[in-house]
Amino acid sequence: MTGLLLSDPLPGLVQGAYVIAALCFIAALAGLSRHESAKRGNVAGMAGMVIALLATFLLAARNAAAGEGRPLLPTMLVIGAAMAAGAVIGTIRARTVEMTGMPQLIAMLHSFVGLAAVLVGYNSYLEHGHTSGAVGAIHDVEVFAGVFIGAITFTGSVVANLKLSGRMRSAPLVLPGRHWLNLALIVASVALLVWFLADGRGAGEGELGQGLLPLSVMTVLALLLGFHLVAAIGGGDMPVVVSMLNSYSGWAAAAAGFLLENDLLIITGALVGSSGAILSYIMCQAMNRSFVSVIAGGFGSGAAAGGVAGEEDQGDHREVRADEAAEVLARAGSVVITPGYGMAVAQAQYPVAELTARLRERGVDVRFGIHPVAGRLPGHMNVLLAEARVPYDIVLGLEEINDDLPDTDVVLVIGANDTVNPAAAEDPASPIAGMPVLEVWRAREVIVFKRSMATGYAGVQNPLFFRENTRMLFGDAKAKVEEILRHLSAEPQRASESSRAS
Ligand code: TAP
Repeated sequence: MTGLLLSDPLPGLVQGAYVIAALCFIAALAGLSRHESAKRGNVAGMAGMVIALLATFLLAARNAAAGEGRPLLPTMLVIGAAMAAGAVIGTIRARTVEMTGMPQLIAMLHSFVGLAAVLVGYNSYLEHGHTSGAVGAIHDVEVFAGVFIGAITFTGSVVANLKLSGRMRSAPLVLPGRHWLNLALIVASVALLVWFLADGRGAGEGELGQGLLPLSVMTVLALLLGFHLVAAIGGGDMPVVVSMLNSYSGWAAAAAGFLLENDLLIITGALVGSSGAILSYIMCQAMNRSFVSVIAGGFGSGAAAGGVAGEEDQGDHREVRADEAAEVLARAGSVVITPGYGMAVAQAQYPVAELTARLRERGVDVRFGIHPVAGRLPGHMNVLLAEARVPYDIVLGLEEINDDLPDTDVVLVIGANDTVNPAAAEDPASPIAGMPVLEVWRAREVIVFKRSMATGYAGVQNPLFFRENTRMLFGDAKAKVEEILRHLSAEPQRASESSRAS
């Protein structure tokens, strides 16, 4: 054994490299959990991926050179070409993607993982056929489960991509008896697994038997199930779907890892699978929805679908101009800014950061209130604010800021809508009832930055806009904040000081 290791140390070194890469991935997750360490986390993840790719490349080269598998040159050419193409496409996409386009890009990447798991499953079966004994049965289950999860992830992610990019209606597809349809697809897939296993026990070692039939029928059913599961989910539940698909893609990768006997893929898949599941759970809590009800879909199908909920007369709204808003801010002692998707669309984070700095110079206590699902992807607002160099210690979560809002002079709602909707807290009939929201209406004054009276992502009207203490500042958020900044320069410093003194 020692002699074997000495004569060919590469497999052992590769296993060692896999362990180091896995530790890098764990360090990446740990780093990404806090603003301050997020960059380090990313670097750890990149280092882990470089180590994993190099080790895999070397192992493939060694196997080919040893005559195991395909010849050396074509193997290296195929792997090298795939890596180069991936690196070029990945770099171009990473450089060109807008922050607002990230969720759909992530959904598309998940679809690749799903497709890869399907292909690995088929390849493993077509290349090795069935194997006898208990190990063979386990292998058959691995093939079947990998293809099943991969196919669901594939079509589910494609639908999520289409919905998030607006190429498919975001309202849920509610077919009659849809839960029964899902159940029937799952039961049929289990029956096909039994057939596939029985076929494996009947076939000889390495033979394909009739297994391709149940495997391909199940693939079609799983593709349909993935499509239907995500098509049935709409409105405000989309963030959970993205992270749920993230989790599925992790499990699909882990299943592929078992088939390829690749420990690193198993570990990485399990890390992605469990972190995605935990994130989905946290998001469900943030939206006060149970995980099962999200997966079952149909949310936003009632009166809310299509943005007609709350269309009943809400009264009149009041408007404010940028110069008046500047005056209000100059007089304020405390300001809370609650950004949302509109801030990302307008790319208003830079003027918002400058406004924050200018108000703080004047002695105003400025803080940010971030809703867990503000924007279109987890941590969206935090990333934008970090990019514009807003200090981390004034960026607070929903629970940290909500109790302070009644004592706040002015809240600036910048491009947020659903996440500050009082109907969630006050109207049990609202489609977003029970979703924890930033209770901005409890502040003394609220200024809402948006372009029109249109509804937000969930298509639900927002009674906040009609409250006594709310004024609307219509226009592009970036242009309006810049206008306020210009007027603020003209506001005498003493205005805020004398007001606070009184
Ligand atoms: P939304 O409810 O989506 O509202 C954003 C508002 O921004 C819109 O009402 C829009 O009004 C305004 N807006 C758009 N462009 C603007 C611009 N250039 N300048 C000024 N305003 C602009 O935002 P939110 O409060 O952040 O809530 C997020 C919603 O997205 C939730 O329903 C959430 O469930 C869902 N969602 C979240 C995620 C994650 S993980 N965060 C992922 C997918 C979906 P006008 O058109 O009138 O300007």
